[in-house]
Amino acid sequence: MTTATTNVMALETEHVLQVYKRNPVVFERGRGCRLFDGEGRGYLDLVSGVGVAALGHANPRLAAAIADQAATLIHTSNLYFHPLQGEVATRLSDLSGLPRAFFCNSGAEAVEACLKFARRYWHAQNVSRPGLVAFDHSFHGRTIGALSVTWDDHYRAPFAPLLSDVQFVSPNDPDALLAAVTESTGAVILEPLQGEGGVRPFSQRMADAVTEACTRTGALLIADEIQCGLGRTGRPFYSSALGLRPDLMAVGKALGAGVPIAAALFSERVAKAAAFGDHGSTYGGNLLACRAALVFLEELIDRDLISHVASVGAHLERGLRAIAARHAIVREVRGAGLIWGLDLDRPALPVVEAALELGLLVNRTSDTVVRLLPPFVITEGEVDEALALLDRAIEKAAEGKAS
Ligand SMILES: Cc1ncc(COP(=O)(O)O)c(C=O)c1O
Repeated sequence: MTTATTNVMALETEHVLQVYKRNPVVFERGRGCRLFDGEGRGYLDLVSGVGVAALGHANPRLAAAIADQAATLIHTSNLYFHPLQGEVATRLSDLSGLPRAFFCNSGAEAVEACLKFARRYWHAQNVSRPGLVAFDHSFHGRTIGALSVTWDDHYRAPFAPLLSDVQFVSPNDPDALLAAVTESTGAVILEPLQGEGGVRPFSQRMADAVTEACTRTGALLIADEIQCGLGRTGRPFYSSALGLRPDLMAVGKALGAGVPIAAALFSERVAKAAAFGDHGSTYGGNLLACRAALVFLEELIDRDLISHVASVGAHLERGLRAIAARHAIVREVRGAGLIWGLDLDRPALPVVEAALELGLLVNRTSDTVVRLLPPFVITEGEVDEALALLDRAIEKAAEGKAS
């Protein structure tokens, strides 16, 4: 490790709040699906900044648009109109069928807005329905509201007390869901394909039970599509693939392709409950962020990147299933499109560390799962390269060898 690298690490360790256990690498630049560290070493990136860098790194169209916008106007606040927010909202509405958007800067804020406006909807009708139903293995973010519907006690316990009226249900137990959702449930919140919780797609049976429960009781449905939405699975949203009809939806991550922007999307009946001054964000949906989102949405839809995700994702799936067939330590392969998890019969960290040493970035989630979230622009050739490295990393970890 060079002195420059150790200096970076030392400075952070001294002055940055120690909540991230970082990998021992300092990235300085990127190109497409590759990142380069301060020592000039290249890595194939199958993490994409946790599902954010959908267009790859240093995408020329995105970089040019951001530079142009920066030289024109970056930010004016939500006190005034600007030409881009309505454009992004229209595109998201076309894609989701949810006609109104509230813009913010992170996934947790988008979830928070969904939780607030689910409440607002019931308040507007003078009805008390404070209950929320969420799912085991869910992850919705780190703000108090989002944390309250996040399952893992490791994230929750240090910040108790959280919202009290939340019930968690196993995503494999439709009967429990049907029993949990009652006339005092304000909303059911779910990730149709759970990301942080171990890459676990909802089954069609469970999705049908959710629809049945919400229809029977009138409870609102919030779909958290922050990680699995906006093309990540090869479809615009995984909830629609399951036939779910959410009243509220949270999107983020890929939306700005690296520039922070997220949104809560609302059906007209929920949006009608909102009044001026109910909610707000200083940065939310500023010009720079909206410009980046427009580039992302143009690439995804107008230039049909979404079809590429579906086809290269199928190629990746075939390769992962072949790896699973070769390595007994892989218990299950789960995912869709370009979000995949290899569930191991042991902790996943040694695989992640062996992969890093081989020049491949993957990450661990839910202790035993190796998660892959490559940029949408990954090619079949890069997938093959990644699969070969992953195969070696699993072999090393299975043998208990350091590389
Ligand atoms: C499904 C889901 N919801 C919410 C969040 C929170 O997003 P952010 O970290 O941008 O606040 C995440 C982040 O990983 C997520 O995967």
